[in-house]
Amino acid sequence: MKERLDKLISSQTNLSRKDAARAIRDKRVTVNGALCRATDAKVDPDADRIALDGSPVTYRRYVYYMMNKPEGVVSATEDQTERTVLDLLPAELRRDGIFPAGRLDKDTTGLLILTDDGDFAHRMLSPKKHVDKTYLATLDRAPDKSVPEAFAAGIALADGTVCKPGVAVISDDCRVEVTIHEGKYHQVKRMFAALGYRVTALERIRIGALDLDPSLAKGEVRPLSKEELALVFDQPPC
Ligand code: URA
Repeated sequence: MKERLDKLISSQTNLSRKDAARAIRDKRVTVNGALCRATDAKVDPDADRIALDGSPVTYRRYVYYMMNKPEGVVSATEDQTERTVLDLLPAELRRDGIFPAGRLDKDTTGLLILTDDGDFAHRMLSPKKHVDKTYLATLDRAPDKSVPEAFAAGIALADGTVCKPGVAVISDDCRVEVTIHEGKYHQVKRMFAALGYRVTALERIRIGALDLDPSLAKGEVRPLSKEELALVFDQPPC
C-alpha cells in the first residue's frame, strides 16, 4: 500500500512529520536513487528504495522493544505530572504511535514491551490467549508453605473477585515467583494481600517464554528480535 513520503519518513525515523517534510524540501531525500522534493509523493514502502542524507530508510511496519522498567515511571504514553516509560526511549528508537503493551505499577520494575502494533498488544493482553506473566515478588515476611496451594486453587481478592489459578514457587526466604494468566489491576499485590502478605518489591521477569534480558540495566530499552518476539506466544498450554 502506498504512503505519503513525509509520513513514511517520519514513521521510520526520529524526525517529526514537519521535519520530514522540511528534509524532503531541502533535497535530502531520494526515492529509487532520484531526488524527490514532493512531500506528498506516494511511495510503496515495500518496493521503493528511500534514502535520507544518503542512508537507506529501512522500512519496519512495526517496532517492538524490550524495556527493563525502573521504579518511579508510569506505564503510559503521557502524564501531566509523572515521567512515563516513553520518556526513557532514546531518540533513535522514538517514533509515532509507540505505547507500552500492558501496564506495570509505578513501583513495579522489569520486563515491559513497547510497540506500535495494536494487534500484537491485544493478543498479548487478551485473557483468552493465556499469555503467562511471571513476577518475582518480595514479601514483608517469609511465605508459608501453603502459598503455592492457595495460588493453584485460585485466590479470592478482598472485593470478592476470584482469580484464575496461578503458579507460585517459593524461591528463597521472602521471595516468591508467581505466574498468572490475567492482568487485573494490582493483581499480584492484591493476591498476596488476600493471603495476609504485603509485597515490598515486584519485578516482572518473563512474558510467555520471553525472559527479561539480564544484561539490560534498569531504564534501558532495546529492540526485540523476531525470535524473541515469537517467545511471547510460545508457552506450554495450561
Ligand atoms: N501485579 C501488580 O500488583 N502490579 C503490577 O505492576 C503487575 C502485576
